[in-house]
Amino acid sequence: MTGETDGTDEANATGESGATDVADVLVVGSGIAGCSAALAAARAGAEVLVVTKATRPANAATYLAQGGIAVTRDDPELLRDDVLAASSDTADLDAINVLVENAGDAVQDVLIDTLSVSFDTDGDEFDYGREAAHSEARILHVDASTGQYVLGPFLSHLDSHPRVTICEDTAALTLVTHEGRVHGAIFERDGNTWPAFAGATILATGGIGALYGQTTNPETATGDGIAMAALAGADVADMTYVQFHPTAYAGADSFLVSEAVRGEGAVLCDADGERFMPEYHADAELAPRDVVARAVQRERERTGEVTLDTTPLDFAGKFPDLAEKCDERGVSHESIPVAPSEHFLCGGIAVDDRGKTTLDHLFAVGECARTGVHGANRLASTSLLEGLVWGLRAGDAAVGFDPEPVETPNLRNSDPSLPPQFVRDKFVRLRRVMDEHIGLHRDRDDLRRAAGVLRRLKGEVDAYVRTRTSRDLYELRNASVVSLLVARDAMEAEPVGCHHVEEVNAD
Ligand code: SIN
Repeated sequence: MTGETDGTDEANATGESGATDVADVLVVGSGIAGCSAALAAARAGAEVLVVTKATRPANAATYLAQGGIAVTRDDPELLRDDVLAASSDTADLDAINVLVENAGDAVQDVLIDTLSVSFDTDGDEFDYGREAAHSEARILHVDASTGQYVLGPFLSHLDSHPRVTICEDTAALTLVTHEGRVHGAIFERDGNTWPAFAGATILATGGIGALYGQTTNPETATGDGIAMAALAGADVADMTYVQFHPTAYAGADSFLVSEAVRGEGAVLCDADGERFMPEYHADAELAPRDVVARAVQRERERTGEVTLDTTPLDFAGKFPDLAEKCDERGVSHESIPVAPSEHFLCGGIAVDDRGKTTLDHLFAVGECARTGVHGANRLASTSLLEGLVWGLRAGDAAVGFDPEPVETPNLRNSDPSLPPQFVRDKFVRLRRVMDEHIGLHRDRDDLRRAAGVLRRLKGEVDAYVRTRTSRDLYELRNASVVSLLVARDAMEAEPVGCHHVEEVNAD
């Protein structure tokens, strides 16, 4: 599958490896969505190439996922209703039905029968966890480190699959398109670039956490797939719905404190030790995530600090992995300082119920895709499930197309003048704009100004991209494209869910 040459080298960037990859299905990204897509395509007989920036074991949001994976129990309607309610009725009902109707089979087939994930049990039953805005306990988990226990076995399984090749530490720079069809992508590793051609390409590149100062994502989450798809002409949607998790540890070396901790009874307190969530929502700490995140932010601004009081539960007994993280940082188990942190993009590349984008032979799954399941605010522990369900469906749908090598764009590497600090300094500026103006609280005038700054920043980056090809510069290019997409959507959208707009001079 790899290492073929086909005479396209002359069209490639300086520093090319001279090689060309060819596969039936190309998957870009290696979280649960990418792995599920690769598995389904390989099961259907395709030769699959998975290319990922990640190096194992971490570098994928899936690996960092704590709470777990929501499943349907006796009444699937309940999950459907909860997803819809958490989104303030903005989610797409057809998409939710796809999620709910496929949840049980997908979890049983892939996670339990194929990967043998040992979800925590309570006697003969699963130990179903409870999280905010869920009307029943329904989260399968392994401690609060579920993602690790899913992704490790998944990658090992794919490693041993005869029709799957995984290529790590390799960045996708741009999609290869010809006459309206996507034919693959150009990749970079160690300064070399080369094209990979495929019958179908599936983007599974994750979210946009690196655009913000505080995030629960890996630092590699620069919105690559969304930017590449948008630049190739694919539709994107709901980009304004950037979800912040209410409870990341507020100190140095931050870590997520799973919503499951609140599900077990922990409460949020202001700097005076007063519980405040009941004043904000009838469901208090278990209100939808957008509501809790804004309340935490507001109380931090008002009183200086918010802590998670875990004394109502046996924290160390129930969450030994989180207790260990507290110990490593010298943080009390009983009272953990917390702050909101960018966590998940509910929008992304617009896809249908099989992950198909608006471009021929291009699919998108996982956080980079907008399926419509989350609407304006995602229900906790539905992201792994969405990645699994849409990954399997897209992987199936992507099979059956022949790869057709075509001429590739000429990526230049002729300009040595990129100042060494350029990428770092621009990222600092971009994050400052996103944090200050396109975070939890927004106002319309600010958004317009922020979009102007981001547009100028993108122009400066584009000028270098025309003559330089390097991974960090392309990541910055992707971040600048995506930040502008978020800003523009935020200027247009009506306030709902994660998109909270305050009128100027409102208190
Ligand atoms: C958490 O464990 O709180 C995160 C769950 C999620 O984001 O779905």
